[in-house]
Amino acid sequence: MNELTISRAIHILSIVIWIGGVSFVTAIILPAIKSQFGFAQQESIFQLVENRFAKLAKWMVIIAGASGFYMVYLLDTWDRFMGVQFFWMHAMVLIWGIFMLALFVIEPILAKNHVKHSQDPKQTLKLTLRLHIVLLTLSLLTVFVAVLGAHGAFYQ
Ligand code: HEM
Repeated sequence: MNELTISRAIHILSIVIWIGGVSFVTAIILPAIKSQFGFAQQESIFQLVENRFAKLAKWMVIIAGASGFYMVYLLDTWDRFMGVQFFWMHAMVLIWGIFMLALFVIEPILAKNHVKHSQDPKQTLKLTLRLHIVLLTLSLLTVFVAVLGAHGAFYQ
């Protein structure tokens, strides 16, 4: 077993935990909270779940990025970022960048101001669910095209 194979396994493991968690929060937790609790409770339960998941997700995003860039280094395929047929590489880095920004920049800022500024908890939860659906859809599409791309589907 070589370094590339191990890096690939680590990459996919971190993606499974991270995107799997996003799937669970989006498809199960958020709709369950929405259907069961009053608006005031919905906000605090969601924050409790999301804060716990965010800690794990942060580590997974770091590991996915580190293993991803390490594979680019091992394969010496930096020039892929110049080719259209490698759009799946751009998609991976884009999704990673969005989550880095969301977890390390936007979420801490929102968490700091949340209690003070969330005057309409119903609207906030609705928006949160929509945002999760968009991010999950983009993430799953990226997984789909990345597997196809890594196995030569877009070039000879
Ligand atoms: C900094 C961000 C990332 C970098 C630099 C990166 C880089 C890479 C590289 C170099 C490969 C191997 C390609 C090959 O074998 O030719 C790979 C595979 C893969 N990556 Fe990423 N990746 C990143 C983020 C992501 C994200 C966010 C996802 C999912 C949403 C993802 C999902 C995958 C999948 C599914 C594979 C295919 C594994 C296989 O079937 O062999 N990656 N990535």
